[in-house]
Amino acid sequence: MPIDSPQPLTVPRFVAAKSRRERLAMLTAYDFLSAALLDSAGVDSILVGDTLGMVVQGRSTTLPVTLDEIIYHAEIVARAVRRALVVVDLPFLTYQVSREQAIANAGRILKETNAAAVKLEGGVNQAATIEALTRADIPVMAHVGLKPQSVRKLGSMSRIQRDEEQLIADAKAAEEAGAFSIVLEMVSRPIAARITAELSIPTIGIGSGPECDGQVLVSSDMLGLTEGFEPKFLKRYANLAEMIRTAASEYVADVKGGTYPAAEHSHQ
Ligand code: KIV
Repeated sequence: MPIDSPQPLTVPRFVAAKSRRERLAMLTAYDFLSAALLDSAGVDSILVGDTLGMVVQGRSTTLPVTLDEIIYHAEIVARAVRRALVVVDLPFLTYQVSREQAIANAGRILKETNAAAVKLEGGVNQAATIEALTRADIPVMAHVGLKPQSVRKLGSMSRIQRDEEQLIADAKAAEEAGAFSIVLEMVSRPIAARITAELSIPTIGIGSGPECDGQVLVSSDMLGLTEGFEPKFLKRYANLAEMIRTAASEYVADVKGGTYPAAEHSHQ
């Protein structure tokens, strides 16, 4: 079944898109209305990312997001979605402590939300966990390259990852451990192209060039809601921040000037 069929997308159909050379479009969502809109626009996969920490909670990193918080948002998003594959981030320290804890926490996500899969950051260092989750029938999307949960170790969040041997080893380890797909974040274009050619699972790029099998962006970035964030890879498809500010200031002026509500907005 082609990827653009209206049938709900499953993990096997998502994976099969690669052999059909059909590109995959993924965006983040954290609430019901946005998820329903993105789904009806034909987005193939919706990520309930731990960028929730920044976008919804106004924090400076993803680290404080808890399992309960992501489950709360994932349940809402999955309830809104009819077709897209819903993938949910495993927050920092919900899968690194032990494999048993990773299975229990990822299992809670699948049991308490209607999501299809989880995502975790890591390649070689998380291969045993990816394998344990996959053996427990929990589909895993891996995430290599820039790993925002490693921000304390890295010190910076914007560097392009160019360690070719490490990146290829990470991507291959994730695939061999059973990951059904892999996010490549801020990987240099030639390395992302090589990984995409060498893996049989779909690669989903963010800041990693056009050769990836799919792309993911944080919705609030591509919709122009987040201001002052201008990485080279980001294309803004709308300027919602400006639209909201203009609409709200017109409303303020109308209320203060007595022009809203007008007669047509009032019950006689
Ligand atoms: O948490 C998130 O939104 C992500 C994307 C940036 C890929 O991991």
